[in-house]
Amino acid sequence: MTTEATEATAPAPPAGKVLLELNGLRREFGSRHTTVAVDDVSLEVHEGETLALVGESGCGKTTLTRLLLGLLEPTAGNVRFDGQDLAALSASQLRGVRRQMQVVLQDPYSSMNPRMRITDIVAEPLVTHDPEARGRRARARTRERVGELLEAVGLDAGIQDRYPHEFSGGQRQRVSIARALALRPRLLVLDEPTSALDVSVQATVLDLLAELQRRLGLTYVFVSHNLAVVAQVADRVAVMSRGSLVEVGEAAAVLHSPQHPYTRQLLDAVPVLDPRRGRRAAERASSAAGADSR
Ligand SMILES: Nc1ncnc2c1ncn2[C@@H]1O[C@H](COP(=O)(O)OP(=O)(O)OP(=O)(O)O)[C@@H](O)[C@H]1O
Ligand SMILES: [Mg+2]
Repeated sequence: MTTEATEATAPAPPAGKVLLELNGLRREFGSRHTTVAVDDVSLEVHEGETLALVGESGCGKTTLTRLLLGLLEPTAGNVRFDGQDLAALSASQLRGVRRQMQVVLQDPYSSMNPRMRITDIVAEPLVTHDPEARGRRARARTRERVGELLEAVGLDAGIQDRYPHEFSGGQRQRVSIARALALRPRLLVLDEPTSALDVSVQATVLDLLAELQRRLGLTYVFVSHNLAVVAQVADRVAVMSRGSLVEVGEAAAVLHSPQHPYTRQLLDAVPVLDPRRGRRAAERASSAAGADSR
């Protein structure tokens, strides 16, 4: 799978089993002037890892995530989640698989109804997917669960009756993370989750995501154009250009000794980048030394 970037020292294979498998995925848009947004993408994502997806604007990152989430049908190829081919599932089976994959987008405000209270925003997936969460009698239990979710993302359980505009961008992003966790998913797709935030707020949200991943054993597909962020969060990096994957490998290898000219070009655009300072690299170094393990 990892063809480039393995010459010097072969990296250890990712620890977890394969959770998500993309095989020859292709997606075209338009009928007369066809755009090939995703072109023959094959990729495995392992349980518990963070795979970063990077590439220039318009290269197909979001389209690829919508394909893997089963929100968009591929023109060719297939997606397997936990061994199940999404295209082979019945509608109700697909719903069951989809609840295990949730998404957090760049701008939480655009995906929140400003007239809904925080409690209803976070409870929305519960109410949609779980008949038991509906109705008056379930209300107290649902509020309790929403309170737990808010606390899990570092917010006060008492904010439930307030509205999105009363919060900062970072707090709203925490609310959308709480909502994404409501159904206890195994995979989170994070599409530029911190790109709209100030650098200091960005750091606290990245810390939260790292903590949640450790605690809940989550798998992340992390889309970002910010390579400094990628160096901090990623176990592996997949580099995309014009719909295709041009390089996939361990984060340190891809960021330190890129094999593909396009990756070098992306890296050259970043003035200072030292993935050795990234948390993941430090963790790996300390666990390799036997001091700690994830
Ligand atoms: N629904 C659609 N209809 C037509 N073309 C689309 C559609 N969605 C995406 N495209 C096209 O597919 C290509 C890839 O778009 P996509 O949004 O996946 O890129 P991206 O890598 O996520 O970009 P960005 O970094 O700006 O978010 C672009 O050329 C885009 O115009
Ligand atoms: Mg996008």
